[in-house]
Amino acid sequence: MFRDLRAEIDSYVERDPALRSRLEVALCYPGFHALVFHRMGNAAWRRGWHLLGRFISHLGRVFTGIEIHPGARIGKRLFIDHGMGVVIGETAEVGDDVTLYQGVTLGGTSLEKGKRHPTLEDGVIVGSGAQILGPFTVGKGARVGANSVVLQAVPPGVTVVGIPAQIASRRDGSASRRSVFEAYGMPCEGVEDPLACAIETLLKRVETLNERVAVLEGERADFLSPPERRTGTND
Ligand SMILES: CC(C)(COP(=O)(O)OP(=O)(O)OC[C@H]1O[C@@H](n2cnc3c(N)ncnc32)[C@H](O)[C@@H]1OP(=O)(O)O)[C@@H](O)C(=O)NCCC(=O)NCCS
Repeated sequence: MFRDLRAEIDSYVERDPALRSRLEVALCYPGFHALVFHRMGNAAWRRGWHLLGRFISHLGRVFTGIEIHPGARIGKRLFIDHGMGVVIGETAEVGDDVTLYQGVTLGGTSLEKGKRHPTLEDGVIVGSGAQILGPFTVGKGARVGANSVVLQAVPPGVTVVGIPAQIASRRDGSASRRSVFEAYGMPCEGVEDPLACAIETLLKRVETLNERVAVLEGERADFLSPPERRTGTND
C-alpha cells in the first residue's frame, strides 16, 4: 500500500516551486496526508469493509479538509495542492500525474447507482475551484481553468474555461507529452527560474496576440485606409 509513497513525495517536490524538502511534504502537505488516508480507506473498501473505509475517509476529511470517497480510484503521483475543499466522489477515476488545486469537485449530477463521477486521464491539471460534474472523461493532459464548471467530455490536450466550460485553447504538443510539469498550468518548459518563466509566458502571450491582430487586420483590410493600416501594424 505504501510502496509508492516515495514517488508521491518526489512528485510534490517536482510540482511545487514553494517546497524545500521531502520532510516538508510528509509534515505539512494536506494533499499528501489525504492520499495516505485514501490508500488505507480504499484498501478496506476493496476488502468489503465499507464502514471502516468510510470511517477512515472521514478521519482524512477531518484532518485535511479533503474528502476522497474510499471507492474512488486514484492513480500514481496525484498532487493536491493546498487541498481544502477538494471533493472526489465514489465512482471518480483519476489517472497518473494528475494535479488538483483547492476547492475542486469531481462530482455527480444524478442519484442513480453506477458510474456518475468523472474520469480524469493522465496529466490532467484542474485549477482551483473548478467543478467537474458527471460520468464523462477529461482527456490526457487537458487543463481546466480555475472556477470552471465542466459538464461534458474534454478532449486530450485542450484547455477549457468558463461556466459551462468551453475550449479556450488547443496546443500542438499536448501537455501530456511535455516532460516538465507546468506549475499553475503556465507554459515555461525547461525554464527553472520563476522570473524567466514569467517573462517567457508574457513573450508567448505577446506572440499569440500579434498573430491574432494580424488576422484581424487581414479581415478588416478592405475597410481601413492605408495610413490607418500602417498605424495598426505590429512591427
Ligand atoms: C486555464 C489556465 C491553465 C490557462 O491556460 P492557457 O491555455 O494558458 O490559457 P490562456 O491564459 O491563454 O487563456 C485562454 C483564454 O481563456 C481565458 N481564461 C484563462 N483562465 C480562465 C479562467 N480560469 N476562467 C475564465 N477564463 C479564463 C483567458 O482570459 C483567455 O481568454 P481570451 O482568449 O479571450 O484572452 C489558467 O488560466 C488557470 O486557470 N490555471 C489554474 C491555476 C490555479 O488554479 N492556480 C491555483 C494556485 S493556488
